[in-house]
Amino acid sequence: MTEAVSPPEPTILAAPFLEVMSRDGAHPVCDLIGELPFCWAPPQTSSDPLYQEHSHFKAHVELLGPTGLVTSSRVRIGLYGMLPHSEYGLRTHPAEETYIMLAGSAFWKLADAPYQQLFAGQRSHHPSMMPHATRTRDDAFMSIYIWDGDIATDQYRYFGLPDEEHSSG
Ligand SMILES: [Fe+2]
Repeated sequence: MTEAVSPPEPTILAAPFLEVMSRDGAHPVCDLIGELPFCWAPPQTSSDPLYQEHSHFKAHVELLGPTGLVTSSRVRIGLYGMLPHSEYGLRTHPAEETYIMLAGSAFWKLADAPYQQLFAGQRSHHPSMMPHATRTRDDAFMSIYIWDGDIATDQYRYFGLPDEEHSSG
């Protein structure tokens, strides 16, 4: 006897994502992303408690990859966003990574460089094992990310918020 497995219930993106995705400067694909019945949820890249604590503000869908809507063992491509006034600290992983901003604005930090604000159409590229961090201010953002090379997550490490966050706003 076979039993049908029910697909997970789709979730609606939180309003701050939909707001930046409806702006004039957002990539046109945002209209489609907002309408499709994705199961948005924080990623489960790490079981580290600090990572979990710093994940509730994230919206994520893996489109192509080992756990994606379409299966691939060679690459991960997905959608990723963060709510306003959120901080996702420094992390490293073997995969080479590119984030392409689709809507809103985010601040990206690479290694020891200061945070740089990026808007729709801009990219943040992270070579393998380069520490990077992300934060938002008044706007949410939505992006598409690409993981290439070694896409396993067993060597992913999360280090928490950068030290400079304790001394300045
Ligand atoms: Fe990353």
